[in-house]
Amino acid sequence: MIGLLRNQISSYSNRGINHNELSMKSPEFQPISAVAHPNIAFIKYWGNRDQELRLPLNSSLSMNLSGLETLTTARFDPALDHDIFILSGENVVGPALERVSRFLDHVRSLANTNVYAHVESQNNFPAGAGIASSASAFAALAMAASHAIGLNLDEKDLSRLARRGSGSASRSIPNGFVEWQAGTSDADSFAFSISPADYWDLVDLICVLDTTPKFVGSTGGHALASSSPLQPLRLAHVKDRLEQCRKAILVKDFESFAQVVEEDSHLMHAVMRTSNPPLHYWVPETEIVLWNVLTWRKEGVPACCTVDAGPNVHVLVLSDYAAAVGARLAELPGVQKILKAYPGPGASLV
Ligand code: DP6
Repeated sequence: MIGLLRNQISSYSNRGINHNELSMKSPEFQPISAVAHPNIAFIKYWGNRDQELRLPLNSSLSMNLSGLETLTTARFDPALDHDIFILSGENVVGPALERVSRFLDHVRSLANTNVYAHVESQNNFPAGAGIASSASAFAALAMAASHAIGLNLDEKDLSRLARRGSGSASRSIPNGFVEWQAGTSDADSFAFSISPADYWDLVDLICVLDTTPKFVGSTGGHALASSSPLQPLRLAHVKDRLEQCRKAILVKDFESFAQVVEEDSHLMHAVMRTSNPPLHYWVPETEIVLWNVLTWRKEGVPACCTVDAGPNVHVLVLSDYAAAVGARLAELPGVQKILKAYPGPGASLV
């Protein structure tokens, strides 16, 4: 699948464009392709202090998901009179195009130009599977568009740029296990790697339970977070949880990791369920997976759960146990499919 995606780069890089003419007139406007992986948050981002700049209320911690990826090609074209966004071969219009265009406006402002862009993107993972595609989407777009327009941003500034498209995208720029420091302003709110992808043999078994589109997406959810009386409580000790999680990863202490990851996920869902209006993302089968994994852990199996803004459960397990846990999960009611992901690299040019 990934090979297939990558083979398509040359075809869509060449489509509708005369390279000789382009390189004579404006050598900076070459098509550029980048790939990025989604990530799963162990310590969650939920709520912004500045929604427009996507400055979060708390720092967060995640792992990039290898094997799942977004491949994006961006080409700025002086002949265009608006941005074009093609996703999985379909021309996108409406709010999704507007979000991409607003992001490209920011890229244009950094490069001091007003040239519109043609963006083509593909995911190798299904929509609605409990994997935040906006993270890999805006990380890949930040990398492709910034290079295509002639900016040469370092990792920190790429992460800051990706953050403007989707907060969690800031964490898909660096390698492996990644911390996004909330920072105090746009300048210092960026993500960095705390350890490389090959540091710890974790596996994420993503249990797909329901692929119905979300009734309220993450962006809408962040805006509601502060309406929950539990949000101040969630935030009160998030620094301690992040430290415990970082330390657990660095010393590979699965038990400590499991405890804090589940606590943080449950705190976020408590906030979601008590916001106004309330957000109930789970289906009954979500609870069944959580209950079973907890029971297995009590029996000594190194597995734990985390759930993003949706019903599907990410089961984190040490790789030696992945096959056995995967087989048990497949037996549970409502598990439609299990996607397997390993710690992944950061975003890169193709
Ligand atoms: C529950 O990054 O998707 O997955 O910035 O509005 O695009 P936007 O939100 P997004 O929020 C992610 C929320 C989460 C937790 C997390 O990934 O930290």
